[in-house]
Amino acid sequence: MAVIAGNWKMHKGPSETREFFDRLDAGAVGKDHELIIFPPVASLSAAVSARRAASTQVGLGVQNIHWEDGGAFTGETSAPIAADAGAHYVLVGHSERRHVFGESDRETHDKVAAARRHGLVPVLCVGETLEERREERVDEVILRQLEAALPALGDAKERFLLAYEPVWAIGTGETATPADASAAHETLHVRLADAFGATVAAGIPILYGGSVKPANAGELLSAPHVGGVLVGGASLDPESFVAIARAGR
Ligand code: PGA
Repeated sequence: MAVIAGNWKMHKGPSETREFFDRLDAGAVGKDHELIIFPPVASLSAAVSARRAASTQVGLGVQNIHWEDGGAFTGETSAPIAADAGAHYVLVGHSERRHVFGESDRETHDKVAAARRHGLVPVLCVGETLEERREERVDEVILRQLEAALPALGDAKERFLLAYEPVWAIGTGETATPADASAAHETLHVRLADAFGATVAAGIPILYGGSVKPANAGELLSAPHVGGVLVGGASLDPESFVAIARAGR
């Protein structure tokens, strides 16, 4: 079952969130896809009610958490608060967190650990910059980012998702070719199999993200080792979000 996840970033307040769910034809997607939306945290409770009203199975998550369970951290959201507010998933280490807000590998580890303590499913994002790709350091960078989080995953028997998002492809209109995506996903999959065994690794979906849209989703979703997509801009419109899922049949 392919995972089709929408990262809304800093878009859509509660009213636009309700409107999205009113217009979302999740039934058109069918049962072979799992839909997840990451709204801004202030819109999460609107998403929870709108999802209930629309009777859809869409999963909900937050885009970031703090690694501590509580305390004097103005402006932050903890894993227990996110879980209590209705989040089931959390993005950890998105490239904008790493490159705009300076989040370190150590912090991503601690955030994955916090997610696990409170029953949130972490979606760890990894990916290289254009410069790192030109220097042929893709595997080194994505394995380092994965490696940093491994100790927080225990035996990885509880659900965990990985997203490969090359930084140069995010919000730029540039997409990795299906072959590039497959190669990076295979590198990650092999490391997961090494850490957790082949059976557990086979159950860990690796999503591709970076300028995914209805026109390129089909070929990306059918590429080897691609278990789904993490979509930014094209997830803001319910029709295009559904079209992406339908392209993956
Ligand atoms: P994009 O963003 O689809 O707008 O490139 C993807 C992401 O940042 O998750």
